[in-house]
Amino acid sequence: MTKYLIHGGNSLHGTVQISGAKNAAVAIIPAALLVDGACRIENVPQISDVTLILQILRELGADVRVINRTTVEVDCSHIRNRQVPYELARKIRASYYLVGALLSRFGWAEVPLPGGCDLGGRPVDQHIKGFVSMGAEVEVRNGLIYARVPSGARLSGGQVYLDIVSVGATMNIMLAATLAEGQTVIENAAKEPHIVDLANFLNSMGADIRGAGTDVIKIRGVGRLKGGSYSIIPDQIEAGTYMAAVAAAGGEVLVKNVIPKHLDCITAKLVEMGVDVEERDDAILLRRTGALGRVNVKTMPYPGFPTDMQPQIAAVLCTAQGTSVLTEGVWDNRYRYVDEFRRMGAHIQVDGKVAVVEGVDHLTGAPVHACDLRAGAAMIIAGLAAQGVTEIDGIYHIERGYETIVEKLADLGADIQVVSVPDEDNQAQVG
Ligand code: UD1
Repeated sequence: MTKYLIHGGNSLHGTVQISGAKNAAVAIIPAALLVDGACRIENVPQISDVTLILQILRELGADVRVINRTTVEVDCSHIRNRQVPYELARKIRASYYLVGALLSRFGWAEVPLPGGCDLGGRPVDQHIKGFVSMGAEVEVRNGLIYARVPSGARLSGGQVYLDIVSVGATMNIMLAATLAEGQTVIENAAKEPHIVDLANFLNSMGADIRGAGTDVIKIRGVGRLKGGSYSIIPDQIEAGTYMAAVAAAGGEVLVKNVIPKHLDCITAKLVEMGVDVEERDDAILLRRTGALGRVNVKTMPYPGFPTDMQPQIAAVLCTAQGTSVLTEGVWDNRYRYVDEFRRMGAHIQVDGKVAVVEGVDHLTGAPVHACDLRAGAAMIIAGLAAQGVTEIDGIYHIERGYETIVEKLADLGADIQVVSVPDEDNQAQVG
């Protein structure tokens, strides 16, 4: 077993380079299933969710070539197997994109129900509603999603109003509609940057998608997509995580390869807390020298404050002056990490979707568990700011979404190491 060992107290200084967006990559890579020919995808983050989705495509018969550290070429022209392996699909949320992509290309999909972080109920009813509006028959049984177009028919354009703003349903319906006959309209669509990125990828290969980034998306089905090159946008949440780390630990850091507009919601809160933030064309400079002030944060779909930054901002607020109120507006159960913060001396009370964080003078290092991806990132931030040693287990969650996080933080001056712990005696060794 491996853990992260952090000696807290070092402020952060220097430059950090942000990788490609996880939530765009895990949709764009399956979207290659719609394309006749090779897709060259650049700025791909080296994270385990990407490794898994590439592995699934290989199992389906795609030709996947790793060109260099951040570029892959995926050719799905000769897919032979359409059954998605359970063992791989159950590990990631994004495996649900295979339903939309396979349905669009073959009129048939059989995909295990997705895994991913446990954030409360994660239904897929809105995805299904979209597929059904296009004429597909969909059934969920024995842990599988079965979707097919009745024999003799084609997937055809539909009109779908999402009852809840869903990132996954918006992208999945977009995938299914790309090769369908006629026009599909998604109303009350999600507007996250990765939705625009998926639309841009598909359009660059010949799709006809308009309105991505607004709440009405119109997709006119096309006969085929042809291969090409595409570069994934920078990761909004990875950037936000480093911004939160600087706020918590102090110091001065240039966060490079970002789209500052995507970070406005995070920047606004950090400025309100007293962090100096300077926007450049594709970078953000952060400086925190003084004490942090309290703020209230409510998570919402984009352009609201992202739910995937809620645990990290909570980590910062643990040592802000005064009492802050967090309201989770997307997930039912996103405060499972709070018990771990309490072990470090944080004062947090949770009541349903609201958490009240009473700032303390300092956190104290402790052994803690990363219960999901973003909670794990929040544990790191708390550990960097804490006095003493923090030992984090469950780090496979963190590696699902953060490329070389230990190296990037160590380059900024953090004292963080990966240690291997023999399972038998739980004795930590530097590895
Ligand atoms: C994606 C992100 C996740 C992020 C979330 C919200 C990926 C791989 N994951 O997850 O990190 O936290 O967006 O920004 O991109 N819902 C339904 N029915 C559905 C679909 C969703 O009720 O069919 C509900 C969910 O329970 C949740 C809300 O809608 O309360 C938003 O979920 P959604 O935007 O779909 O999240 P994901 O796409 O799963």
